[in-house]
Amino acid sequence: MELTSITGLKGTITIPGDKSISHRLIMFGSIAEGTTNIHNFLNGEDCLSTINCFRKLGVDIEQDQSETIIHGKGLHGLTPPEEILDAGNSGTTARLLSGILAGQNFDSKLTGDCSLRKRPMKRILHPLQEMGANISSILRNGCAPLYITKSDLHGIHYTCPVSSAQVKSCILLAGLYADSKTSVTEPVLSRNHTELLLKSFGADLLCTHELHSPKNTVTITPGNKLYGQEITVPGDISSAAYFIAAGLLVPDSEILIKNVGINSTRSGILKVCDDMGGDITLINQRTESGEAVADILVRTSSLHGTTISGEIIPTLIDEIPIIAVMAACAEGTTVIRDAEELKHKESNRIDSIVDNLLAMGANVTPTPDGMIITGGHPLKGATIHPLLDHRIAMAFSIAALVADGHTNILDSDCIHISFPTFYDTFEELL
Ligand code: S3P
Repeated sequence: MELTSITGLKGTITIPGDKSISHRLIMFGSIAEGTTNIHNFLNGEDCLSTINCFRKLGVDIEQDQSETIIHGKGLHGLTPPEEILDAGNSGTTARLLSGILAGQNFDSKLTGDCSLRKRPMKRILHPLQEMGANISSILRNGCAPLYITKSDLHGIHYTCPVSSAQVKSCILLAGLYADSKTSVTEPVLSRNHTELLLKSFGADLLCTHELHSPKNTVTITPGNKLYGQEITVPGDISSAAYFIAAGLLVPDSEILIKNVGINSTRSGILKVCDDMGGDITLINQRTESGEAVADILVRTSSLHGTTISGEIIPTLIDEIPIIAVMAACAEGTTVIRDAEELKHKESNRIDSIVDNLLAMGANVTPTPDGMIITGGHPLKGATIHPLLDHRIAMAFSIAALVADGHTNILDSDCIHISFPTFYDTFEELL
């Protein structure tokens, strides 16, 4: 994709459905009784990987323009897959599905693409094995492909060394199949869509956390059936983030982004934009399908640097690529700390952000758990290597809009992972 600088992005847009919620609705709908009707499902490649896995597990899932319909099989109704399950690029699919597969009465194998096969799976293998699961890394390298054979699961109390919604969700899903309660404690509360949705499907779930409390514990008591429901997925704040940044950075812009999920475990980007001096207004705040939603009005602003560290990190972990681009365009220095998890995403995002910012002429230094960016130097067009990481491709597409000269985003098709209509949405603002 070839891009150059522009001015005056104006208009009203909507953003596709939230990726984390879309994945979970396919999974929970599949193991629920009855039908789950989903509106605004994200038809990105990651969520389609989840659909494909559940179809191979015998679930009937229909899709048309307006709805995704899951004919649930109940907790014990999945059937043995004839082929290896393929999670594609999706860590969420691999890790959450492993929790469900660990509780089934049949054997299965799960793999993914070359990026996913390098991502750490010991973080789920260890707690699942502690629960009694027979799950292993086939190549004994702590990564997928994984082999899961049937076993009896026991409830545990697991203390996660890192805050990870994928690990938490995996353990809670296995907990649905255990012989007693399962609890997960994480250092800082990670996104809580699993907790909100499992409760609304009928699971017996107790959350003792508060967002800023040191004890973030969720307990699931097995025994309850899940029941299908009709539900609307809010727009994905992680996708809205690119248009928030575009509205702030591109001169003479005013963008209204409708129906965005602003769950407090996901909305750290809004606080950071505010700290950087961004002109952002939340309009029409409401709750829809159990999630906080708002329309977000963004106007061009002069940004300044900030420090981003500690408890806010899990609430904006996927937005760090675009925050780094904003920091490179802001006056002064931005420090990002406590974000070592960036190394374990679709690419090593400390490296992929720093290397591409350096290519655009920014002043950026990597650190073991983040980076230091000093803005105020104009960006210049460059060839961007997203390394097949969708969030790097989209973040640097925004950088291109404020850079001098041409930028070439290589392999920009990887945006289909989470936001297939990303470039089309821009057309609406020209
Ligand atoms: C996700 C959780 C996050 C996030 C990922 C989606 C989820 O990962 O980076 O894109 O849907 O649970 P971790 O929870 O492992 O940090």
